[in-house]
Amino acid sequence: MNIKLSFDPASQLDTDVLIVPVLDHGEKDKNEGRPAAGDDAIRNAAKELAAANEITGKSYETVLFHHPQGMKARRLLFVGGGQAKNFTTSEVRKLAGAAVRFLKSKNFKRFAILVPELAGDAAGAVRAIVEGAFVANFDPDTYKSDRKDQSVEEITIVASGAPDQIERAVEEGRIVGESQNFTRELVNEPGNKMTPTMMAHRARRMVEGLGMPELTIETYGAEKLHELKMGAFWSVAQGSDEPPALIVARYEPKGAPEKPLIGLVGKGITFDTGGISIKPSDGMEKMKYDMAGGAAMLGAIRAIALLKPKVRVLAIVCASENMPSGKAQKPGDVQIAMSGKSIEIINTDAEGRLVLADGLHYARQLGATHLIDAATLTGACVVALGYINAGVFTNDDSMWEGFHAALKRAGEKMWRLPIDQDYQELIKSNIADIKNSGGRWGGAVSAAMFLKEFVEETPWMHLDIAGTAWEEESKAWIAKGPSGIAVRSIVEFVRSFPTV
Ligand code: BES
Ligand code: MN
Ligand code: ZN
Repeated sequence: MNIKLSFDPASQLDTDVLIVPVLDHGEKDKNEGRPAAGDDAIRNAAKELAAANEITGKSYETVLFHHPQGMKARRLLFVGGGQAKNFTTSEVRKLAGAAVRFLKSKNFKRFAILVPELAGDAAGAVRAIVEGAFVANFDPDTYKSDRKDQSVEEITIVASGAPDQIERAVEEGRIVGESQNFTRELVNEPGNKMTPTMMAHRARRMVEGLGMPELTIETYGAEKLHELKMGAFWSVAQGSDEPPALIVARYEPKGAPEKPLIGLVGKGITFDTGGISIKPSDGMEKMKYDMAGGAAMLGAIRAIALLKPKVRVLAIVCASENMPSGKAQKPGDVQIAMSGKSIEIINTDAEGRLVLADGLHYARQLGATHLIDAATLTGACVVALGYINAGVFTNDDSMWEGFHAALKRAGEKMWRLPIDQDYQELIKSNIADIKNSGGRWGGAVSAAMFLKEFVEETPWMHLDIAGTAWEEESKAWIAKGPSGIAVRSIVEFVRSFPTV
């Protein structure tokens, strides 16, 4: 999708549709419509519609207005941005997405959008619009032979402000939006098209496609797991005929200090049957998305490399299938992780923590000073937080503070959950150092406690994205299907990471 910039007055813009954000200012000037930017011609059109009660400013409400007087645009599309007092970059991102999805469904290929005034942050608004537009232009329809090729081709952003800053904002928005979509593409692939080997291949293709010396990648198969003594990771992989893949991508910008090194570790279970502790067949097809954490880390490092912050980043994806077979591990088996810890397998369906245990340990061995992992780890996290918030667990309050601020800027929702030492009881084993299931109650916490055993004192954050990596219903601004959650907040977090 091509993004153009225009600094001309809105009335001079020759376009099929000009998107105009409208805010709800309450009863006081209900009949004004109150576009969030624009000139008299736009205000008059809005006023006419508001007087007829056709626009209210309610979030994502869309109203098309033909032949606006005094304008070159053929149509105006008024889009509600909700209450004026709550209007932030998050709302701008979703509003732009809603407008793009509305026009896309009507087969418009080229149109323009007026940047709303946002507390003086013109660049922030532009960046949010571009991110929202890219995310909205994605539909998971690769395998539909009757798919209508409805993709939007070009959006003109009608902005004001310093052109160099606005241009930079467009570029950043494109990088982040396209990286999130890269993640979504991977997550959308079914298990037979996205084996661990395929995932490694796609990661390699992405890195090589960028052709940047500061971004490198290595991909390994089963031999490397044996060589590194990744007994926990291998215990999951051993049951499958598909070989596992260990993906290691590094972003090492010139002139960046040795430390910090941020390690991103992702769960890459390309299909989770549960193994011998097999899952019920109802809904099992969804378990193709069990590599969403790994895909998020690949999307994040893609964006980071393109945005070029002066901080080193390492991404590790532990990719495997979790299958039942004559070679599969069994409940009761004891495995030795790379760190040397022994693990009693209670439930072979608690496989994510096993692959992550070795991924986290390996990241530390490669020098990571800070760790973030992302995983569709537990059904219990979905029970706790539903499909709205992802769960965050961390041993470091200052990391949480930085991440919490990043979440706000990125417009992603995550909620911190506890990991006090009292929960350690849950994963004590009779026969080994720890066991891989803490039972039913507090299941998201016991999974996090298990991971904690492998990060030791390293500042670390665990993101349980089981409930948020897949949109169960389409929203005005995003299609049903893979969401690409965690890419934007991790990118924001890394960009603002203090390097001194
Ligand atoms: N991939 C699943 C987690 C999951 C479950 C995500 C349902 C989305 C919806 C994970 O590997 C898993 O199976 N976890 C088990 C752990 C249990 C056996 C301790 C779970 O949550 O039931
Ligand atoms: Mn599982
Ligand atoms: Zn799983």
